[in-house]
Amino acid sequence: MSTDSTNQPENQPEDQREEITAYELIGGEARVRELVDRFYDLMDLEPQFAGLRALHPPLLDGSRDKLFWFLCGWLGGPNYFIERFGHPRLRARHLPFEIGTSERDQWMRCMALAMQDVNLPENLQMRLMEALFQTADWMRNVPR
Ligand code: HEM
Repeated sequence: MSTDSTNQPENQPEDQREEITAYELIGGEARVRELVDRFYDLMDLEPQFAGLRALHPPLLDGSRDKLFWFLCGWLGGPNYFIERFGHPRLRARHLPFEIGTSERDQWMRCMALAMQDVNLPENLQMRLMEALFQTADWMRNVPR
C-alpha cells in the first residue's frame, strides 16, 4: 500500500477536490436503471399508484428510458437526456398531465419504495427524496 497520501481528498485544498456525485454514490448507470425499472414496476403493480399509472401510456418502455436518461444527468452522471432532447424543461413537458398534490405524492411514494427495494443507502435515499420533492412539487399544475 502506498504511504503517499497527497491524493486523498482531505489533503487537497477544497477547490481542487473531486466532487463525488450522487451518480457515483448510487453505483453508476446499471443501478440507476435498476431504480427506474423498480419505480415503473411498482407503478404498474400497486393499486395505490393507479391514478399515477393512468396518466402514463399503456406501454411504459419509453417512460422508463426517459426517466433513466434524465436521472443519470440529474444525479451528476452522463447527460443522456439533454443529448437527445435538449433542455429538460420538465415543468413544460408535464403540462399535458394534470398534476396536483395527489399525483405528486403518489410519484414520491412510488420513488421512495423503489429506493428501498433496490437498497440504496438510507442517507442517500433521504438526500435524494428531499431534492426530488422540490422538483415534483414544482411540477404541480392544478390547484388541488
Ligand atoms: C409530480 C408528479 C409526476 C407525475 C404525475 C409525472 C408524470 C409523467 C408522465 C405522465 C410522463 C409522460 C410519460 C411518457 O411520455 O412516456 C412523464 C414524463 C417524464 N417525467 Fe414525470 N411525472 C412526475 C414527476 C416527475 C419528476 C419529479 C421527474 C424528475 C425527477 C420526472 C421526470 C420525467 C421525465 C424526464 C419525463 C420525460 C419527459 C419527456 O421527454 O417528454 N417526472 N411524467
